[in-house]
Amino acid sequence: MKKALRHIVPVLLCLVAGAVAGSMQTESLAEWYPSLAKSPLTPPAIAFPVAWTLLYICMGLSLGRVLTDGDKRFVTLWFLQLAVNFLWSFFFFYLRCPLAGLADIVVLDLLVILYIRWVRRATPSAAWLFVPYLVWILFATYLNAYIVMENPREKSLSAAAVTENILSNTKNQSIMTHTLPQLPYAMEALSPKMSRETLEYHYGKHLQTYIDNLNRLIAGTPYAAMPLEEIVCKADGAIFNNAAQAWNHAFFFDTLTPAQQPMPEKLAAALAGEFGSVEAFKEAFTKSAVGLFGSGWVWLVGGPDGRLSILAEPNAGNPLARGLKPLLTVDVWEHAYYIDYRNRRADFVKNWWDLVDWQKVAGRL
Ligand SMILES: [Fe+2]
Repeated sequence: MKKALRHIVPVLLCLVAGAVAGSMQTESLAEWYPSLAKSPLTPPAIAFPVAWTLLYICMGLSLGRVLTDGDKRFVTLWFLQLAVNFLWSFFFFYLRCPLAGLADIVVLDLLVILYIRWVRRATPSAAWLFVPYLVWILFATYLNAYIVMENPREKSLSAAAVTENILSNTKNQSIMTHTLPQLPYAMEALSPKMSRETLEYHYGKHLQTYIDNLNRLIAGTPYAAMPLEEIVCKADGAIFNNAAQAWNHAFFFDTLTPAQQPMPEKLAAALAGEFGSVEAFKEAFTKSAVGLFGSGWVWLVGGPDGRLSILAEPNAGNPLARGLKPLLTVDVWEHAYYIDYRNRRADFVKNWWDLVDWQKVAGRL
């Protein structure tokens, strides 16, 4: 019984530590770090929780072996590696600082290698139970390094900026420079083409999360003093992703109306002049929106020469960063339509046309 408890308790401890670490991940990794999704070796999202559960069980059983038959001096090393493991989630998911995460996980790699080398003499089974874990964290080290390489802004975060992030995250959550914009209509006003539930999630949760994340990321940085548009034009990495998503969504929601009016003449003439006819424009825009691979935004934009064009941007792409003038956009991230239309993006876009506020689009010309 005592022997069983020596294995069960460490396994439970690991699973609890893993659950707490996982709770720090409030947003999908791909939304925070699109560069990770582009990594050729990134496994499907389901692989992460499944792998970590199995690894935590192996990790706990390894300590159980040491407590039962091994050299008790290595118990401290086991707890130390678990603490460093937990800290990685704190740096990476909570502080959104991949560089600090990378430094942490390299230390973790070394601790785990030391643990395996030392415990294998007295307790080979405890060492073998750690081998899959070592393989996995080496792979995680590669993914973390990939993100640092793809997000130079995070790479250049100074120690002072990291400290500032910690202070703003732990002591002063109330600093909010950006807030959720008001919708110009009621939550159920666009139903059934866009349901109240979709708005509750898309506007109330997704947009709110981008804004909260942005406020947390910019606290203590020069971006804290900039208007949203300027952040979109100057930032990259996670700050750009969240700033652009906040701006794009505010623009998208502001361009919807439950009481659509006919398109103003000057807009119809401008579209006909560029695309042949309003119908031809809508057809080309729809084709681009339905055909955009993965998540992103399709825009009607004005160029520096005044000419109109359609721009398809993956992820958080925004025309302001390209020096173009946004006139109209449709959000084709799955979260924009999945509640009402499941996987039928074409049906969503078809119905979205009936919600476009043409007066606002014309006013931006
Ligand atoms: Fe969205």
